[in-house]
Amino acid sequence: MASKRAVSRSLLLVIATAVLVRPFCCAVDAPTSAANQTRPPALFVFGDSIVDPGNNNALTTLIRCNFPPYGQDFPGHNATGRFSNGRVPSDILASRLGIKEYLPAYLGTQLSDFDLLTGVSFASGGCGFDPLTAELVSVLTMDNQLDLFKEYKEKLKRITGARRAGEIVATSVYMVVTGTDDLANTYFTTPFRRDYDLESYIEFVVRCASDFIKKLYGHGARRINVAGAPPIGCVPSQRTNAGGLERDCVPLYNQASVVLNAALEKEIKRLNGSAELPGSVLKYIDLYTPLLDMIQRPGAYGFDVTNRGCCGTGVFEVTMMCNRYTAHPCRDPSKFLFWDTYHLTERGYELLMEQIINRYGL
Ligand SMILES: *[C@@H]1O[C@H](CO)[C@@H](O)[C@H](O)[C@H]1NC(C)=O
Ligand SMILES: *[C@@H]1O[C@H](CO)[C@@H](O)[C@H](O)[C@H]1NC(C)=O
Ligand SMILES: *[C@@H]1O[C@H](CO)[C@@H](O)[C@H](O)[C@H]1NC(C)=O
Repeated sequence: MASKRAVSRSLLLVIATAVLVRPFCCAVDAPTSAANQTRPPALFVFGDSIVDPGNNNALTTLIRCNFPPYGQDFPGHNATGRFSNGRVPSDILASRLGIKEYLPAYLGTQLSDFDLLTGVSFASGGCGFDPLTAELVSVLTMDNQLDLFKEYKEKLKRITGARRAGEIVATSVYMVVTGTDDLANTYFTTPFRRDYDLESYIEFVVRCASDFIKKLYGHGARRINVAGAPPIGCVPSQRTNAGGLERDCVPLYNQASVVLNAALEKEIKRLNGSAELPGSVLKYIDLYTPLLDMIQRPGAYGFDVTNRGCCGTGVFEVTMMCNRYTAHPCRDPSKFLFWDTYHLTERGYELLMEQIINRYGL
């Protein structure tokens, strides 16, 4: 029963925080002729709530947000299931790549041929590289997401034929954003991975990440961008849980992100273009540095508040707790880095993506 309590407690915290993105190819303001040479046909996204545009709406899970005030700044004030007030990083990247303005969820929506041809997100809020992280909250594991990708490829073949489908799969951009919930929820909040010490748990998570990359490559992906973990200790929910009365950043949690990121980056460099994954072009995307800078220097980014969320009191509201009945949003979300205690505002995501695109290119 103790474990049940821990699980329901973790439900409130769940969901990731990272944020990400990555890219390559086409310079942002390149002339059309140069841009079209390298513009990928589609964007495919795997991961957690940072890049879930509503897949969880189709699941029986509490990790969802298809109700106001989520989506209040989305066209039509539509609470699509995106974990923010507006667009999320997968949308912003699709837009900057010149593909489309919104990257739809694969599950639960009526997808047109155009939607399928230009890419979708398979991401599921609350998942991690560790399959247990998703299982604890009844969302899609990374392997479940790959199964959906397999199903997707069959649909693509029916639309364009096997040859073109193969080209689309091989030349598109892939973005993977998860891992935050492995640390923040599964390791630090529930008792289920206490048989690992932190160092060995991180090694395990990186092995899971490496296996995922290899499987994704096995499905035909080549241009794969993998985001690292954000400064988990400075996320509002973790400040509330473990930051003391002052709600300071939690050094142990940030240190865990740093260690995870170093190991993940090393593994990605090892796999990149290796004999094991010939022709692969992998990128490690550092979210930690730009996000920490935004948290520590709000004024430089036009923010007033970076230590609590815009929704409600901003110290504990996330998903079910951030709802129109009990939690009013702040007056101007663009002055807040965080929308709820785990996820950025649309403005936060835009500025984060801007920095990432500047650093890694599109
Ligand atoms: C780029 O676009 C131009 C004009 O639409 C087209 O003629 C050209 O073939 C395209 N280049 C590539 C590499 O797709
Ligand atoms: C709201 O979003 C859902 C899911 O993306 C979509 O199916 C629906 O058409 C949208 N409604 C409006 C009014 O835009
Ligand atoms: C992967 O290799 C490409 C060259 O094929 C290189 O441009 C890129 O920086 C490498 N990525 C990493 C993470 O080292």
